[in-house]
Amino acid sequence: FSLKEFNTFGISAFAKVYSPTNSIEQLKETLSYYRRETIFLLGGGSNMLITQDIETAVIHVLIKGIKEVYRENTTVRLQAMAGENWHEFVMYCISKQYAGVENLALIPGNIGTSPIQNIGAYGVELKDVFYSCTVLDLKTQEEKTLFLDDCKFGYRDSIFKNEAKGKYVITSVTLELTDLNLTDKYQVKTSYGAIQEELNKLNKGESIDQIAQAVINIRSSKLPDPKLLGNSGSFFKNPIINKAAYHKLLELNDDIPSYPVNDDQVKVPAGWLIDKCGLKGYRDGDAAVHDKQALVLVNHGNATGSDIINLARFIQNQVYSKFGIKIHPEVNLIKQ
Ligand code: EPU
Repeated sequence: FSLKEFNTFGISAFAKVYSPTNSIEQLKETLSYYRRETIFLLGGGSNMLITQDIETAVIHVLIKGIKEVYRENTTVRLQAMAGENWHEFVMYCISKQYAGVENLALIPGNIGTSPIQNIGAYGVELKDVFYSCTVLDLKTQEEKTLFLDDCKFGYRDSIFKNEAKGKYVITSVTLELTDLNLTDKYQVKTSYGAIQEELNKLNKGESIDQIAQAVINIRSSKLPDPKLLGNSGSFFKNPIINKAAYHKLLELNDDIPSYPVNDDQVKVPAGWLIDKCGLKGYRDGDAAVHDKQALVLVNHGNATGSDIINLARFIQNQVYSKFGIKIHPEVNLIKQ
């Protein structure tokens, strides 16, 4: 069974067994056939790099549905099932005038995988609106609810990448939003420079519709559409370095952008570092660095997972020799 259509990098790989699941019952039944170690869970396929054929059973989580589960004053909680597409969910919220996720428009992938890496963009992270998620324990089939604190969210990080890795399948996510039909006291988040610029260009107001439109415009101008050019968004995490190292860098490069993390550390854009190495648009066969955003690696057609990994290693080495900074992938590398 070919997985090419099911991973946004568009890598050709095959699965021995492919099992789509459309309900929790079907998911439970499918899981009962396999041991925890012998399954491979697939969601939107937007944050993974497959490097070889998948020998274990691929279980595709396609469960759909969005419902309101709680309401108090201007707060509304929506529960979305894991197989809902993230961006469609954002657009649904905007159509209902539920605020909180507008900065996260156009992020590829599904609801069910959004907590794993605590998706984030333009000054907002999933954790800012996250209320809870339901999971199925792959071993015991027990259903559990994990709340915000249980998930240990960090920058592109959560419990699901660490101690709970491979333990659960996320079946739904509940987000806490503000119902703008009932209040106008909602602070839109426009601190990210690029949003300000785009809003000025649009020359309108700062409604959630306009924020989403600004984000859509920025993303589509820089980030390749996976349907046209295979990619997994940012390939690397932005490295977090200590202030001393940052000031040293600043002496040599006074244009280096940065975001504060805490009193001792700053985050610097890996895209900028890669760009400064002269690698924007660099191509080795069909594996390449995107020509509009150096943080994104792309597949021009027939790159294999190994081609992309080789390119990633080359980039890591170049960045390290020029800046002495180690950068690490944020996409999930699938090796078996
Ligand atoms: N930059 C360059 N050259 C490049 C790319 C970036 O000079 O080739 C500079 C930009 O000019 C800017 C800075 O680096 O000053 C940051 O760039 P950008 O605003 O595009 O954001 P990013 O740090 O590259 C992160 C996220 C993105 C998210 C954006 C916006 C990570 C790993 N990536 O990218 O997330 O959309 O911020 O918030 O944190 C993703 O995770 O897949 C993703 C796209």
